[in-house]
Amino acid sequence: MQKLGPVTGQPTGAPFDMLLFGATGDLALRKLVPALYRRHLAGQIVAGSRVLALARTSQSRETYLAQIEETCRKYLRPEEFSAERWKSFAAVVDYLTIDATQAQDFKKLSAALAGRDDVVRVIFLSTAPSLFTLTCDNLAAAGLVTPKSRVVLEKPLGHDRTSAEAINRSVGAMFAEHQIYRIDHYLGKETVQNLIALRFGNTLFEPLWRRGRIRHVQITVAEQLGVEGRGQFYDQTGALRDMVQSHLLQLVCILAMEPPASSDPDAVRDEKLKVLRALRPILDRDVQTKTVRAHYKAGAVSGQPVPGYLDEAGVPADSTTETFVALKAEIDTWRWAGVPFYLRTGKRLQDRVTEIVVTFEDVPHSIFEGAGGSDRSPNRLVIRLQPQESITLTILAKKPGEVMRLAPVNLALDLAGSFKEKPVDAYERLIMDVVKGNLTLFMRRDELDAAWRWIDPIREGWARHDERIKSYVAGSWGPAASSALISRDGFAWQDES
Ligand code: BG6
Repeated sequence: MQKLGPVTGQPTGAPFDMLLFGATGDLALRKLVPALYRRHLAGQIVAGSRVLALARTSQSRETYLAQIEETCRKYLRPEEFSAERWKSFAAVVDYLTIDATQAQDFKKLSAALAGRDDVVRVIFLSTAPSLFTLTCDNLAAAGLVTPKSRVVLEKPLGHDRTSAEAINRSVGAMFAEHQIYRIDHYLGKETVQNLIALRFGNTLFEPLWRRGRIRHVQITVAEQLGVEGRGQFYDQTGALRDMVQSHLLQLVCILAMEPPASSDPDAVRDEKLKVLRALRPILDRDVQTKTVRAHYKAGAVSGQPVPGYLDEAGVPADSTTETFVALKAEIDTWRWAGVPFYLRTGKRLQDRVTEIVVTFEDVPHSIFEGAGGSDRSPNRLVIRLQPQESITLTILAKKPGEVMRLAPVNLALDLAGSFKEKPVDAYERLIMDVVKGNLTLFMRRDELDAAWRWIDPIREGWARHDERIKSYVAGSWGPAASSALISRDGFAWQDES
């Protein structure tokens, strides 16, 4: 099939059609519909735009509207909601019962889209990836892929490099690369944007952003939630694919990439790709020293008892799927050689926190040795993505008093207090980026390929050399082996130091 011609970016303010496949699924209800509602309040879903919610469930538009009203009330702040606002948003939404595997069902969609080929068409596939190919085939067969169409693919994109490539190949047969938006919502988070601003909008950090200045980097994505009714899906996926392959590696890219020549999508994505390609492979027995995988046992999170992973609905009693991963990544470039990046993510951990900690080198020689009680902790830049976004630089200062004693003090960026504008939720930003045709925050095909190329050998190594999965008590910070992984190099996780 012939590829479609180039699509130009659209100024904010023009109408668009959103085709939301998987409209009754968890992601659509929890994140996508509330994001659309908020953008509607912000005036970005302009008159003439439409949201076509598409799912297999046979139900009326009114029933679907009642369902999304309930979930929006649950996930939005009370002050964001009013009957009048809801009415005006609901007027934009329609619901069509469509089984994406059934070609004849797309006739309904053709009828709904008649005469709208010149409107930007956002096709959001919030479904299982196994449906991506067939949905795109059916859209193309029904003549619904127009030059102004953009397809948004939710993760996980495949379960390994081969399956991801198969999806990319078949979607790529219907859409040109510039029409494909592979979403990773972490890239849309406000603090990740701020990290980009911090690195490339200031001269301050650039001379320090390298080996010799930075000792090591930690990224922690800790969740208190368990598998939340997604046991069956999760058991096929595991934390390495669900979180590391996408969110954590994207954070590594943003942290480690060279300054791009511009914010042009390909300039940024070229630099991210170089990072992914420079990751040192973790091969065979390396998994024993450079990775830790585990799943949770019964325990208590915030004082509430919770079952173990193997007792979750949909999870086989003999499952070896990991809900926790810690690993040591190394980037073989002049800038980063010898600077370890420790990554850690898990479900049912003690706290919900997503944090990047950049630890700088120790002072080469201390003149305060005689000052009893002086702290010698190195400078740290702590970038917290959630729960409260913050960027803090820890420096040593003199404790008040007669004697010279040093102690850490935080220089904190007052992000909330410095601006009157409110942060925009990741999905809100990313959906509007698709509407505007801005690909910068979306993954290119070769990036995805490079990420899987690094991830696959870890899984193979686990299968061959690390059959026995470890466990940790729900409500803890993960297995003891995770602390051992980092302490072997003489460091400690931020919550342990
Ligand atoms: C999703 C994963 O991509 O990210 C979930 O599939 C995880 O398992 C979620 O819970 C975490 O996102 P956030 O924005 O809450 O950190």
